[in-house]
Amino acid sequence: MAELRTERLLLRRWRDADLEPFAALNADPATMRFFPATLTREESDAHAERIGRQIEEEGWGLWAVEVPRDAAFAGFVGLARPGFEAHFTPAVEVGWRLARAHWGKGYATEAGRAALAFGFAELGLEEIVSFTSRANEPSWRVMERLGMSRDPADDFEHPRLPEGHPLRPHVLYRSRAG
Ligand SMILES: CC(C)(COP(=O)(O)OP(=O)(O)OC[C@H]1O[C@@H](n2cnc3c(N)ncnc32)[C@H](O)[C@@H]1OP(=O)(O)O)[C@@H](O)C(=O)NCCC(=O)NCCS
Repeated sequence: MAELRTERLLLRRWRDADLEPFAALNADPATMRFFPATLTREESDAHAERIGRQIEEEGWGLWAVEVPRDAAFAGFVGLARPGFEAHFTPAVEVGWRLARAHWGKGYATEAGRAALAFGFAELGLEEIVSFTSRANEPSWRVMERLGMSRDPADDFEHPRLPEGHPLRPHVLYRSRAG
């Protein structure tokens, strides 16, 4: 079961104790401003259960991020398979969601770099993508810091959002092995 360590972070399996801080993060309108809605406790727990199970079953996924000696749970960063169809799927994506207290410290970039390295070295992936709402500048800036590249021709409309929804236009970034 893979756990990843970086200079400042531990990317680990999920624990029951993560559910409460995860629900708080998912209920924070600032953290969720680029998502259609905040999540209820039940929705948040179901989400944690799903992504935690993926790690238990496959040994990788959206890991819980711990900041040793500072925060037992700061959010998640890791790899996932998008659950919708688009021009770039099937694919593996790198993604992140951190509680507000942990923004502005480079944690998403540091953890994202470790997740990309794991995906290429351990999973043997040829390519890892990342995508976000075009308006989500903090997120696409992480992609840029990770050295991922965007071709505007790859931009897409998220199929799970209704036409005309302001968050529907998405940017796609790619990173290739080697
Ligand atoms: C997306 C998200 C993870 C980005 O967080 P972030 O703090 O901007 O990104 P990082 O963790 O990489 O931190 C980078 C910032 O830390 C700063 N920083 C401070 N100390 C640092 C250090 N030691 N090392 C590196 N960077 C450091 C950088 O300068 C940068 O700040 P800047 O953007 O003002 O230049 C965060 O906004 C978030 O969780 N949002 C809500 C969920 C979400 O939208 N997820 C993405 C959905 S697709």
